[in-house]
Amino acid sequence: MRIFSGSSSQKLGEGLAKALNEKLFLPEKFVFPDGEERIRILEKVLDEDVVIVESLSPPVNENLIELCFITDGVKRSGGKRVTAVIPYLGYQRQDRVFREGEAVSLHVVIKILEAVGVDRIITFDLHSIKIPELFHIPVLHLSAIPLFAKTIKKMRLPKKSVVLISPDMGGVRRVKLLLEQLDGVATASIVKDRDLVTGAVTAKKFSSASNITELKNKTAIIVDDMISGGGTIIKAVELLKEHGVAKIVVFATHPLFSQNAATLLQDAPIDRVYVTDTIFVPKKKRFAKLEILSIADMVAQNLKTV
Ligand code: R5P
Repeated sequence: MRIFSGSSSQKLGEGLAKALNEKLFLPEKFVFPDGEERIRILEKVLDEDVVIVESLSPPVNENLIELCFITDGVKRSGGKRVTAVIPYLGYQRQDRVFREGEAVSLHVVIKILEAVGVDRIITFDLHSIKIPELFHIPVLHLSAIPLFAKTIKKMRLPKKSVVLISPDMGGVRRVKLLLEQLDGVATASIVKDRDLVTGAVTAKKFSSASNITELKNKTAIIVDDMISGGGTIIKAVELLKEHGVAKIVVFATHPLFSQNAATLLQDAPIDRVYVTDTIFVPKKKRFAKLEILSIADMVAQNLKTV
């Protein structure tokens, strides 16, 4: 097996290679004055199984094209099977037409990845469980939920003091999955609304199935797939505080941390924010309350068995 990483996921690539007792290879990369990138594979990959780790995180278009160039370089050098580990699949939220005339960006990304020769994909916590069906190649859809459950168990919180919160109705499934591993804790879901033009989030109420009398003086554990601008979490925090929760802990798989999300989260009445390394968080976006859990072992485990 040969493991390569692209620019977006070098740290995770190192962790993965270590977990598999393998060496991490980096493609040779040269950027021309006009911005074009040249990728060259220096290692022998003939008849090898090749793993390329590249998150489609910002800058998403650059990382996508780089992943394609690495795949092409590997295939032209005789690589047998390319597994693209794309821990965060960019464009996944644009998986259908929301308003007339819109492009379905995810479909385009899928076509590009398949056309360039990716043979299979390993990815994490997709926004919709239907996304793997849109591919014509195998997709192994993993989740950070087991990692979150393990971390929550280590906190040793009395079950009666915990409420698992989905910050929107799209996340109810994630909370249910976590509940399977944390048996016996209460749950509640927030009804969120997002303005399709401005992106502004409103979260004014809980779903009718939520038992909100359970919230007072409790520890609320918010679970989401990603934090981008932070609006979803901040609105959920405001609503939870209005209902008297004592502590708030956030778990989200993908730390996109766009715009001023890091500052918003640090300044909000949140006790801790757990994310994973599906997306590398640069120093300037790290904050005191942040803790990063690694998915490297989980990916390694799955690469060993498939
Ligand atoms: C949306 O449905 C997702 O599950 C996330 O809640 C959302 O994408 C987070 O975005 P933001 O941090 O910008 O509110």
